Amino acid sequence: MRIIHAKDYDDMSRKAANIISAQVILKSDATLGLATGTTPIGAYKQLIKWYEKGDVDFSEVHTYNLDEYRGLTHDDVQSYHYFMHENFFDHINIDPDNVHVPDGSNPDADAACAAYDKIVKDAGYVDLQLLGIGRNGHIGFNEPDAAFSKGTHMVDLTESTIKANSRLFEHEEDVPRQAYTMGVQTIMHARMILVAASGADKAEAVYDMIYGPVTPQVPASILQLHTNCVVVADEAALAKCPR
Ligand code: F6R
Repeated sequence: MRIIHAKDYDDMSRKAANIISAQVILKSDATLGLATGTTPIGAYKQLIKWYEKGDVDFSEVHTYNLDEYRGLTHDDVQSYHYFMHENFFDHINIDPDNVHVPDGSNPDADAACAAYDKIVKDAGYVDLQLLGIGRNGHIGFNEPDAAFSKGTHMVDLTESTIKANSRLFEHEEDVPRQAYTMGVQTIMHARMILVAASGADKAEAVYDMIYGPVTPQVPASILQLHTNCVVVADEAALAKCPR
């Protein structure tokens, strides 16, 4: 794992955006695995600015999002599909046909997950996977568990994730209790992994990811076994790690 120290959220966002834009500049038809949440918003904003300046072109890029709430349609403002359009896709020249998010509106979990797995596999997996990390060490919606997950699957969200995500909903009861997520094995197929982390509430998870034992109780710890994983984190998120 390579650790890149950033000063604060803005610095972390710029550094993450630099790595993503370098990937797209080096390979114009790159496949990007993308994440939602608060962490990548700054990087998406930066990429939009560089796109507007003409520095980066997304016309041939294909994207594959990590996860989606089960039971939300694409146009639901709380869906990750909506989030990605609002925060990124609607502001760049990506071809809408090249954008992929698990289909949360399909109530048939097995069919929705198998279809998404096939899409990602047929694409040859992704060149670069952007990840945030949960306070409990989750990646995607792969929560602490007895074993590492494999392909796309349905998960029951943990109480801590429901609580953390409730900040984006009016009431905690509104947070969907289930989601479809890429599995850990699918994530590990990415040719490069970029983990972004910011803030003191991530410090413990970041420490466990980098220095703790590799265990499904901290899903992000498996990234220690990836041969090309970069962590970009700010001072607060790296506070528990030795410099
Ligand atoms: C989102 C995702 C999640 C988040 C994680 C951190 O697509 O896969 O694993 O990356 O929950 O969320 P934030 O960035 O909101 O702290």
